[in-house]
Amino acid sequence: MSALTQSPAWKALQNHSKSAASLKMKELFATDPGRAERYRLETCGLYVDFSKNIITDETLGLLRDLAEASGIDQAKEELFTGKKINFTEGRAVLHTALRNLSAAPVAPDGQDVMPKVRAVLDKMRDFSEKIRSGAWLGFSGKPIRHVVNIGIGGSDLGPVMVTEALKPYSRDSSGQVAVQAHFVSNVDATHLAEVLRAVQLDQTLFIVASKTFTTQETMSNALSARAALLAAAGGDTADAMASGAVAKHFVALSTNLEAVAAFGIDTANAFEFWDWVGGRYSCWSAIGLSIAISVGFGHFKDFLAGGHDMDKHFRATPAQGNLPVTLALLGIWYGDFFDAQTHAILPYDQYLHRLPAYLQQADMESNGKSVGKEGSRVDYQTGPIIWGEPGTNGQHSFYQLIHQGTKLIPADFMAPAQSHNPINDHHRILLSNFFAQTEALMVGKTLAEAEAELKASGMDQEAIKRLAPHKVFEGNRPTNSILFKKLTPHVLGSLVAMYEHKIFVQGIIWNINSYDQMGVELGKQLAKKILPELEAGEKDAKVALKHDASTNTLIRKYLAEREG
Ligand code: F6P
Repeated sequence: MSALTQSPAWKALQNHSKSAASLKMKELFATDPGRAERYRLETCGLYVDFSKNIITDETLGLLRDLAEASGIDQAKEELFTGKKINFTEGRAVLHTALRNLSAAPVAPDGQDVMPKVRAVLDKMRDFSEKIRSGAWLGFSGKPIRHVVNIGIGGSDLGPVMVTEALKPYSRDSSGQVAVQAHFVSNVDATHLAEVLRAVQLDQTLFIVASKTFTTQETMSNALSARAALLAAAGGDTADAMASGAVAKHFVALSTNLEAVAAFGIDTANAFEFWDWVGGRYSCWSAIGLSIAISVGFGHFKDFLAGGHDMDKHFRATPAQGNLPVTLALLGIWYGDFFDAQTHAILPYDQYLHRLPAYLQQADMESNGKSVGKEGSRVDYQTGPIIWGEPGTNGQHSFYQLIHQGTKLIPADFMAPAQSHNPINDHHRILLSNFFAQTEALMVGKTLAEAEAELKASGMDQEAIKRLAPHKVFEGNRPTNSILFKKLTPHVLGSLVAMYEHKIFVQGIIWNINSYDQMGVELGKQLAKKILPELEAGEKDAKVALKHDASTNTLIRKYLAEREG
């Protein structure tokens, strides 16, 4: 039994959950006119209504007791001041310093990191302006019109999600996009090949984004991109190298400047970050260069400012008014006391279409852990499965299961009050769906209501009896509604930082390390072993394989099928 599940705060929640299981939100609203007013928070441009949850004041009080008992206030200070809370890797976790736009120093080990953070930001500003203005020329003397970010995981998902979310800011007043952003992450050559088909190489800047600069996928893609560039630059490789084609078309974002130099990228064209920036928390760092080039440095800085504002809110606000803490506690309520396995992210804003994928890594790579700080397996649920799609597409796909399936799926709905593309009545229609879905999920439809509806449609009694049970919606499905005025860089920064801190709070309560990712290693190790076997198998199909029978047979089948 873990200390957490033995703690009085946990036990009190367990006890309370027995009676809470029969709470009906519909009734709670009917008997408590102040509920919607009380269960909402507004900060950093985000208005969050969490009243459609299976909670009472007592639930919230007990959840806050749990947060307090977990030492959340001290943990927050350790995060912001750079204590090595990534204890398995002995590292601080300081993505908040990357967006610290105040004059306050951040000095883990007594050394202020802010001067070097600001120096990289200045370098990013100067470089992005050179690219956007057309001052930086490619090997043919033409300005850069495409950037291709080559990276994976945190070195891809943040830049993709943010550039997509901020697309309106990539256009000038005449609607022209200064620089088109592209992304290559998958080692499947198709990803690179399709991007290379869409660009003119002499007007393309490749950004090799890799914290470690050793990631197999990224290095393979970068080498192939370099070969394509050198071929396009003409002459033989030596000529192209000598003409400085690589220097004009490749920059690197990394903590590993030695490996950057070994790749052939001038370290003058490298943008540094540090081991205290986790990959999935790195879009605020040099990893955000493609964002700054795409939307302009000013907008990138607004994005940082939004994150910084959320940091201030999170650090200074007691649990009761604290947005990330509240969302974290609600997640724990359903995951640990209602056995919910997943959490849906449902943005009613097409520009946020990659947010679910981004949060999948942020949350699942952080809190997908089963061993507590002391080294033993936990006896409670930790991180949920994060998934989602933009509304209204999801409505015509998986919402059926959320409404009528057997699983409880807490969900975050989010929408802007203003659209960047106010065409006809689209936005009104979109928002009517946004409001309708959370209402429907909460209110549901009783058997009597279903029967009455069918009767009103003129159906005979026998058919009503047969059909009505299928038309019942149990309701009482929990949701949070997140409204903001418009999807601006600032709002996006606050939204992302809100989720980062939610993940942090949950990790503290679950007593796990949210900042390593050792679960990705085993597959990588085995792939390294299998790669030379595939190479040998191409020459000799009888190559010795020492895996389990299934894996051996699959490899042999592949070898037999790969040609002809
Ligand atoms: O998937 C594991 C991981 O280490 C992620 O945490 C990281 O974001 C990604 O690989 C890419 O790593 P890098 O930036 O070092 O290439």
